[in-house]
Amino acid sequence: MNRAAMCAGTFDPITMGHLDVIERASRIFPRVVIAVATNPGKNLLFSLEERIELVRESTTHLNGIEVDAFDGLLVDFAESKEVRVIVRGMRAFSDFEYEFQMALTNRKLKPQIETLFLMPKQDYSYVSSSNVREVARLGGDTSLFVPPPVQEALRKRFG
Ligand code: COA
Repeated sequence: MNRAAMCAGTFDPITMGHLDVIERASRIFPRVVIAVATNPGKNLLFSLEERIELVRESTTHLNGIEVDAFDGLLVDFAESKEVRVIVRGMRAFSDFEYEFQMALTNRKLKPQIETLFLMPKQDYSYVSSSNVREVARLGGDTSLFVPPPVQEALRKRFG
């Protein structure tokens, strides 16, 4: 059995919420591939290289983690990495509609790939990368929302 999972996202930047889901996935799966979207069509704060580096630095305490950039369809990337499980965090009911559509689209595209939903710690259920960027831009304390390497990167970016 292929005991691997994929956690995908833009990670602009990785937050404690993302990290919580990755940690949960890594307790279940010995190999977790973190797929960082190259060009998600969002207005990005960090470059692809910076986003990948911040994910790497934030996950050094975990074993079996691989961090890779991806372009194109997530299911194709998962297949190319021999991963059959896509792990998604379900933070609140408001995530459901979008996640439901994405999981069913992915299933239609590649029925052999399953989507598994994990609930992040309640404390992080309201955290998103955009609200972290906004807090940092306006000079607020981001230490409750992001791991130390990201705090440092935000501090350097916004002074
Ligand atoms: N904790 C904190 N924040 C979280 C979170 C969690 N557990 N889970 C999601 N978020 C946040 C993200 O930071 C992001 O916030 P932002 O919009 O403020 O930046 C938001 O919730 C949406 O996150 P997510 O659903 O992971 O979207 P994404 O844009 O980061 O990544 C992809 C989505 C890249 C995984 C998806 O678009 C994809 O697979 N694209 C490839 C193309 C494809 O295959 N399409 C077919 C599928 S329909």
